[in-house]
Amino acid sequence: MAENKDIDAFSGIKTTGHEWDGIKELDNPLPNWWRWIFYACVVWSVGYWVAYPAWPLISSHTKGVLGYSSRAEVATEIATARQAQAGFRAKLEGASLEQIRTQPDLLEFALAGGRSAFNVNCSQCHGSGAQGFAGYPNLNDDEWLWGGSLVDIQKTIAHGARNTDDDDARTSDMPAFGRDEILTEAQISEVTEYVLKLSGQGHDAPKAERGAALYNDQCVACHGKDGSGDSSLGAPALNNAIWLYGGDRQTINETISNSRRGVMPAWGKILDPVTVKSLAVYVHSLGGGR
Ligand code: HEC
Ligand code: HEC
Repeated sequence: MAENKDIDAFSGIKTTGHEWDGIKELDNPLPNWWRWIFYACVVWSVGYWVAYPAWPLISSHTKGVLGYSSRAEVATEIATARQAQAGFRAKLEGASLEQIRTQPDLLEFALAGGRSAFNVNCSQCHGSGAQGFAGYPNLNDDEWLWGGSLVDIQKTIAHGARNTDDDDARTSDMPAFGRDEILTEAQISEVTEYVLKLSGQGHDAPKAERGAALYNDQCVACHGKDGSGDSSLGAPALNNAIWLYGGDRQTINETISNSRRGVMPAWGKILDPVTVKSLAVYVHSLGGGR
């Protein structure tokens, strides 16, 4: 191509030698403004390398003379945020659950803290939306094993249920009527029909009638005459469509035969009191709090 270089007759400028269909490229110098910005960038980047962390080394990187670190910056931001929170945390510590619920700024702070603590500590058992799973209660409804007042919820969270590390854990154990041979298989099947009847489901009427007598003997103390449950004993209502373990014939039969005895950890041993309080306020706010 070099041999094609010549002086353009029209403008008098040298060409680069590139030519397409008779159109030639002029070899104009770079504009000055462009060149100066380019030099400025070079100078700037050298200054930047000296001032800030820039070049990767084998196991670290050049640190820069200003000693800047984004990690340190985040740490400072976190410390500032903690300081801002400290005031609220102190207020939460001193406030009663009722006071928190009635003071909008405290409530908002408690709900935010409760929500994030819930996601970290509780969602694996209760679900990320607190919707629950079989054996792990839904916390969004107004159906409570152990009571739905703020104080009840706080107690359940702080001490848990049927765990071995808290003497104040919620506890009450439904007998395993089949395994412990309190009732025969036939009797369990009868009382199962009665539970189906209590909960408004299809059932075998004559069997349910025999089951009613068994229910009155064996179950009323905890589940109540009408099956409405007893939150001082953690006994769920049996007269509605909300089930912890399942409301079909086979699952009810299985619950009565072997009992269940769900275990929840004592969070008062793991989390600080302010977090437990925030969790209680959060769970109470989920919709079903009394
Ligand atoms: C290891 C699983 C597990 C984890 C984690 C867990 N729970 Fe539970 N939770 C349970 C079980 C099981 C029950 C039901 C206990 C029972 O049958 O009496 C329960 C019951 C409850 C209840 C009582 C519900 C009612 O109807 O009275 C509340 C409130 C509760 N949990 C809140 C929490 C909070 C808040 C956290 C997080 C700090 C949490 N749980 C973490 C398993 C868990
Ligand atoms: C000592 C109190 C107690 C007695 C007596 C008792 N229960 Fe229970 N029952 C409970 C508790 C507490 C639960 C909660 C489940 C758990 O143990 O985790 C429960 C749960 C159940 C469930 C599961 C409900 C659900 O939502 O899935 C059924 C069904 C049930 N009981 C039926 C009976 C029947 C029928 C009898 C009598 C033959 C009976 N219970 C006697 C305390 C009792």
